[in-house]
Amino acid sequence: MGKDRYHIVVIPGDGIGPEVVEAALHALSPLAERFDYEYVRAGLAYYNETGKPYPEDFLDRLRSADAVLKGPLATPVGPHGYRSINVYMRQELDLYANLRPCRGYPRVSPKVFDMVIVRENTEDLYVGIEGVFRDHAYAMKIVTRQGSERIIRFAFEYAVKTMRRKVTVVHKANILKLSDGMFLGIFRELSKNYSGIEADELIVDAAAYNIVRSPEKLDVIVTLNMYGDILSDLVAGLAGSLGLCGSGQYGANIAVFEPVHGTGFDIAGKGIANPIAAIHAARLMLEYLATTFNDKELNTAAKALDKAIYKTLTEDHILTRDLGGHYTTMDVARNIARRFTAELKRI
Ligand code: NAI
Repeated sequence: MGKDRYHIVVIPGDGIGPEVVEAALHALSPLAERFDYEYVRAGLAYYNETGKPYPEDFLDRLRSADAVLKGPLATPVGPHGYRSINVYMRQELDLYANLRPCRGYPRVSPKVFDMVIVRENTEDLYVGIEGVFRDHAYAMKIVTRQGSERIIRFAFEYAVKTMRRKVTVVHKANILKLSDGMFLGIFRELSKNYSGIEADELIVDAAAYNIVRSPEKLDVIVTLNMYGDILSDLVAGLAGSLGLCGSGQYGANIAVFEPVHGTGFDIAGKGIANPIAAIHAARLMLEYLATTFNDKELNTAAKALDKAIYKTLTEDHILTRDLGGHYTTMDVARNIARRFTAELKRI
């Protein structure tokens, strides 16, 4: 069925955010009549102008959207400034699942692979419970049964839906016997319900080694918040750039899509940032809208956009500087939009 038009909240973000988000919207331009974009500002630039990191009605505006497409938001380091807006959004909107698919492309990446990290997004050391007692500092790691069950189910359901063959749980249950041990136990229980999917286990240090040695052997990884955070940057490095991997964060009735990279202040304003991560985020948004609203046209469009990205990188070799090319952010976006239009006609 689907809707005629979808209401998308766009947060351009800081640094290279506005550049890569503009490029992502350009890549989507063949579908322009299906979307109404509402721009919402937040982040460091907004804070410097207004003294607040986001507008008063920020969460309400996000909740009113069919989906949110965002650029990276800067988080000031240290006690001054404001608390991470990303963490605030995750907790307030209960964006419990962070999906991070990443590919290594032939002729472009150091390794060729196709891997998806499903990261638990609200618990673990990110609950923000820290303290100091005399000369001891501590941080609390929280793992709940409910949180573990829903992320592990999400990973298996995603594997079934996208016809993946294997889900690997990454943990440190040999040391963290109760917290990671519970996560692993729940994985073992729930995996029995998915007989068509191979269930595998790796301790996090071995996972890092295996990912670097033979990433093509991994498929879907499900893991706790901090391991997922670190391993997904490792995977992006194997792909050749942080600028290649997009992500989706999912709650019960809302989803937020963004590139995995940060604000790239060192290259901001030069038009050279790689927009592929943001375009992959837009592709994940199409997949989400297709599933949520049963929209077959957007499902086909998501596949067509994936092909357009693949061909732009591997056949046209339109690469930004991070991948050894000399093309600009908008060169890449224009080529993907052209390829996307051609793929849509072909289907
Ligand atoms: P970063 O990802 O901004 O930069 C790391 C390196 O990768 C830099 O050399 C940068 O130029 C390069 N890079 C990143 N994206 C690129 C792209 N699309 N094309 C080409 N090169 C790219 O990470 P950093 O420096 O650790 O963080 C900067 C700020 O971003 C911090 O305030 C951090 O909190 C924030 N951040 C926000 C995220 C979000 O909103 N989801 C995610 C990660 C970081």
